Amino acid sequence: MVKRWKVEVGVLVAFVAAIVCGAFVQAGDVPDVITINSSIYQQHTKGLVQFTHKKHAEDYKIACTDCHHVYKDGKNVWKEGDPVDKCEKCHTDATIKGEKKLPPEQQKLNLKLAFHNNCVGCHKKLKKENKETKAPTTCSKCHPKKKAQ
Ligand code: HEC
Ligand code: HEC
Ligand code: HEC
Ligand code: HEC
Repeated sequence: MVKRWKVEVGVLVAFVAAIVCGAFVQAGDVPDVITINSSIYQQHTKGLVQFTHKKHAEDYKIACTDCHHVYKDGKNVWKEGDPVDKCEKCHTDATIKGEKKLPPEQQKLNLKLAFHNNCVGCHKKLKKENKETKAPTTCSKCHPKKKAQ
């Protein structure tokens, strides 16, 4: 009996810990700068992008929902405080050549397109509105020259 009780407490503690840890994955814990390094690319052909997460959210005042989403019935139901999955959790297609020729449904799941459409898409829009913008649209401004590995 005693042993069984101990097991149950152990399970409960693990359960509560999981909830608490989940709840702490919030804006405050996000690194200011994220090195985007998706693991579905066994090898990156381009230099890794250093993404200024905090600047984008705070200085540039971009809504979390411009980048984070969970779709349900075609609507983005993600809200601040919800857990955030890496983009590659859902955008699982790793094609990096000819990705724009994939069937439309597969394009939506392509990771390179997900990033480029999101990041470069917004930057291009900004550039149209204001030529002086510092939001980069050229490859090497996001992907630093790759060092020999
Ligand atoms: C301009 C786009 C953008 C905006 C705005 C943005 N994020 Fe992110 N966020 C990202 C990207 C990109 C990642 C990294 C995803 C990856 O590596 O797959 C990320 C990662 C995260 C993570 C996970 C961090 C980690 O270390 O695992 C959390 C949590 C998060 N964002 C919360 C937020 C919240 C809350 C806001 C609004 C206050 C926000 N983000 C605004 C693009 C954005
Ligand atoms: C929970 C799953 C999930 C996560 C995590 C996720 N996405 Fe998506 N995303 C989707 C789905 C599903 C669609 C397609 C929605 C539709 O049918 O129109 C989509 C669509 C998109 C689109 C529009 C389609 C396109 O290629 O033009 C972009 C851009 C995008 N996601 C970028 C991102 C980025 C960047 C991240 C990480 C910061 C991310 N997504 C994280 C599920 C996800
Ligand atoms: C909804 C719009 C939007 C999205 C989405 C977005 N950015 Fe930006 N980005 C901006 C703005 C605004 C600036 C600042 C422009 C200025 O200062 O003139 C910027 C600046 C930058 C800069 C240069 C300055 C700095 O802070 O480093 C880089 C690099 C950059 N973005 C990378 C990214 C990457 C990578 C992503 C996708 C993960 C992304 N951005 C998504 C709007 C956006
Ligand atoms: C606004 C920033 C930005 C610009 C501009 C940009 N990219 Fe990217 N690119 C990204 C991000 C973020 C990823 C996702 C990396 C990851 O998931 O690890 C990516 C992924 C890639 C990948 C797949 C990963 C790899 O290294 O093999 C390739 C290839 C790529 N980009 C090529 C280019 C080329 C070529 C250009 C210029 C025509 C370009 N990118 C412009 C941000 C950018």
